[in-house]
Amino acid sequence: MSNEMNRRDALRFAGLAAGAFLVGGSAGNASGAEAGVGGVWKYAVVDPQKVADTAYENYKVGRCMYTTFYGIVYNVGLELEKTDPIAAAPILQFPFYMMKYGTGGANDWGTLCGSLNGAMAAISLFVADSNKRKALCDEIANYYEQTMFPIYKPANDDFGPMPQTISGSLLCHVSSGKWSSLAMKRTDSPERTERCTRMSADVARKTAELLNLNIGTPAALEAAPVVTFKRQEPSATCYDCHGKGKKNSDVIAKMSCNECHDQAVDHHEAK
Ligand code: HEC
Ligand code: HEC
Repeated sequence: MSNEMNRRDALRFAGLAAGAFLVGGSAGNASGAEAGVGGVWKYAVVDPQKVADTAYENYKVGRCMYTTFYGIVYNVGLELEKTDPIAAAPILQFPFYMMKYGTGGANDWGTLCGSLNGAMAAISLFVADSNKRKALCDEIANYYEQTMFPIYKPANDDFGPMPQTISGSLLCHVSSGKWSSLAMKRTDSPERTERCTRMSADVARKTAELLNLNIGTPAALEAAPVVTFKRQEPSATCYDCHGKGKKNSDVIAKMSCNECHDQAVDHHEAK
């Protein structure tokens, strides 16, 4: 089984390399400034509901990062196949299995939530303009940090209403920990798995919406990023002194600081 998988993956990868070369010149993009070898991959508008359903159904194959990335990218491939099979080929042959490492916040280390890792990877695959790429990665991170999850409801709901939590953090450890603690469920329970399955579908859907809006049409491709979420106070203010390139510039963190620190915004002035 596993040998067979490896051989199939290897064949796909060979196809991918050839396909990427073909697509290079034809991939449309506003600036193309950041496009690496082979150029940025072509995008096609996808149905966010279909993306969410695909992500929900494939969680069991490779977990959070895999399924979020797969839900988005595979559906882009299917859409492109209708109009531009040459551009679709490398996308459909993508070695999706590589995204399996993201489970449990990177191989169960509890760091960056895999659904976000997958979402940012998908954004980076299709968005060549670096300002837009960064704005969309921030948007999906803020969405994750501030939204009550899970939202997605599968057609066959074996679990009934699920407890929802706002993570306040991008960390798998914090996000799953807060939910498990509220729901009073073990990490190895079917309910915790279901929560992360549904949340992956939510993140995949949001990412698809963002991509449709921001690179779905030639006009959108040229336009400034369309984003709605703001970073939460007080971390924006903490960042004004401590952040990269700011007065103190001693931390790398857009995270909500007060998840871990109890300083007040004016803590330095008060001293
Ligand atoms: C007006 C600028 C400013 C703001 C705003 C600010 N800090 Fe600081 N902070 C400092 C300075 C200066 C120090 C001392 C030098 C250092 O460690 O960076 C400090 C130190 C710290 C330290 C080290 C321990 C300590 O208390 O000295 C932590 C942790 C910290 N800040 C967290 C925060 C958090 C969290 C926020 C937002 C709620 C925040 N800071 C907002 C200027 C600021
Ligand atoms: C997930 C938990 C977490 C989050 C979120 C977090 N920090 Fe920290 N931070 C830490 C830890 C742990 C240390 C190391 C503390 C130590 O050495 O005692 C640290 C260190 C620091 C220090 C240096 C402290 C010192 O003694 O020199 C500053 C300043 C700081 N953080 C500011 C921030 C700011 C500003 C934010 C938000 C943008 C933030 N942190 C978000 C966990 C966190």
